[in-house]
Amino acid sequence: MAAELSPIDKAKFVAAKQATEFVESGMKVGLGTGSTAAWMVQCLGEMVRDEGLKIKGVPTSNRTARLARDVGIEVITLDEAKWLDVTIDGTDEYDDALNLIKGGGGAHLREKIVATASDKMIVIADATKKVDALGAFPLPLEVVPFGLPVTQNLIEEMLIGMDVLGRDIVQRMQGGEPFVTDEGNFILDLHLKRIGNPRQLSLVINQIPGVVENGLFIDICDVVVAGHGDGKVTVRDITNNTFEVVQFDVLDDDNIFVGIAD
Ligand code: A5P
Repeated sequence: MAAELSPIDKAKFVAAKQATEFVESGMKVGLGTGSTAAWMVQCLGEMVRDEGLKIKGVPTSNRTARLARDVGIEVITLDEAKWLDVTIDGTDEYDDALNLIKGGGGAHLREKIVATASDKMIVIADATKKVDALGAFPLPLEVVPFGLPVTQNLIEEMLIGMDVLGRDIVQRMQGGEPFVTDEGNFILDLHLKRIGNPRQLSLVINQIPGVVENGLFIDICDVVVAGHGDGKVTVRDITNNTFEVVQFDVLDDDNIFVGIAD
């Protein structure tokens, strides 16, 4: 049965479906977090059940772990895997160099560890995530709860010397309480509007005591698979310098899942 999907959801679905082409039996696969990654996990689960695909998945969050098990993917830890063939994950923004802002779901710490431990990182996104310059999406920082006001002051001082357009810092909340990550930390969202030098900012932020990891992914992503609401998908591989266009028939009911929860 087909669900009535919005154009954005169709775009996410076709990007996720196309990205599964990178997965082969025997692989250890990093499983991203977020609504686009949830489509990908569903697609891989279908391939495990119906096509005999044999993979081991390393989830980047507790919620992805639950979904992966629900759809029949064998879940292992990163410690058990040690190294991964490929990681497929969503993003909040990507630029022309395939640098990213991630962490809108609060999982960027595990996401960055898993992606960095992979031969290849594939990003799946609806095409609206492409930006000329990173920073319109607030940059998430995972910070330890101890000494949070001190850490925030140091970040504010550091931002004065950075090439950014905004400097507001907001602690992420959920249901009136501080949002807590899977690692037991808090998230600060930096409203920078435009980041002039993402590489420099990423290096400098991580020098501040109390900051565990920032959501900038610099030189980590190899391929972006971008979906459109009409079923068009573009696959840009900056390692191999290739660009491919694929057209999906999104009216094919068999390709549409229902009840995706993130
Ligand atoms: C999770 O922490 C994030 O990095 C997500 O990958 C990112 O927010 C993309 O999420 P959507 O696919 O839901 O847009």
